[in-house]
Amino acid sequence: MAMVETMTPEQTRTPETARPDATRSEGTAGSPLVGPGEDAKVSARDCSVYYGEKHALKGVSLDIKVNEVTAFIGPSGCGKSTFLRSLNRMNDIIDGARVTGLIALDGEDIYARKVDVVQLRARVGMVFQKPNPFPKSIYENVAYGPRIHGLASTKDEMDDVVQSSLERAGLWTEVKDRLDQPGTGLSGGQQQRLCIARAIAVSPEVILMDEPCSALDPIATAKIEELIDELRQNYTIVIVTHSMQQAARVSQRTAFFHLGNLVECNDTEQIFTNPLHKLTQGYITGRFG
Ligand SMILES: Nc1ncnc2c1ncn2[C@@H]1O[C@H](COP(=O)(O)OP(=O)(O)OP(=O)(O)O)[C@@H](O)[C@H]1O
Ligand SMILES: [Mg+2]
Repeated sequence: MAMVETMTPEQTRTPETARPDATRSEGTAGSPLVGPGEDAKVSARDCSVYYGEKHALKGVSLDIKVNEVTAFIGPSGCGKSTFLRSLNRMNDIIDGARVTGLIALDGEDIYARKVDVVQLRARVGMVFQKPNPFPKSIYENVAYGPRIHGLASTKDEMDDVVQSSLERAGLWTEVKDRLDQPGTGLSGGQQQRLCIARAIAVSPEVILMDEPCSALDPIATAKIEELIDELRQNYTIVIVTHSMQQAARVSQRTAFFHLGNLVECNDTEQIFTNPLHKLTQGYITGRFG
């Protein structure tokens, strides 16, 4: 089902841009919007982001499919992080940042006035480039979110949430005997898996990852990539990466950005074997960027 059809006018800040016919992403090669019968978890329509006068993201229309990994690729400064942050309103906390157009989660405008941003960020979690555990114990890093969202009412329940989140993040066996030690004392790769455990502890629906492996060695990277593949059974994942190999390994769809524009979005295999746009071809073959 195309999500735009389920949006009511009051959920749509810019109704003129939310009509499917008005948004067939002119100028974008490939298939940025899902077809009939397919599920879009997140939909962007004519989304622009400005930092003061700077127009950093330019009228992007893109659907992100449920239970898939979508990779965002493109040269430095092309707007990948900017777009990613607009998907859970992280740009709200950047002074001077302004988002226009429509971003919908399950067909509902996430920028609507009634939306509780704390709840939204529990539904759309984020993992950053640099592992950033809280200066707390391993246990408390994971328990923090469930506690503020009231997801566990007893100590036993909380223990279960912490254990299952660490298990799903592939970290449990490495840390089960030292849950009370500081999260910051783990290795970089373990810290990143702790951050993933922290993100999944609140049962998000979408996980946004901004270059989650860029600070990791190849072994830790391989672990995170395996994990991403497992997580996609239950979550919708968006990953920003500078590694073509990583995008090819972990994602089913890939979106290529250039100078704030979405140039091409397609099945990952198509993007890497037979891109439709010259700019995509140039980037994936390493001729620029
Ligand atoms: N907080 C900010 N204030 C002003 N300009 C910004 C801010 N954040 C990003 N920009 C600008 O917006 C554009 C897009 O930046 P963004 O960080 O989204 O790029 P990116 O594709 O994630 O790059 P990279 O691959 O280097 O992480 C750039 O020109 C950048 O300088
Ligand atoms: Mg970035």
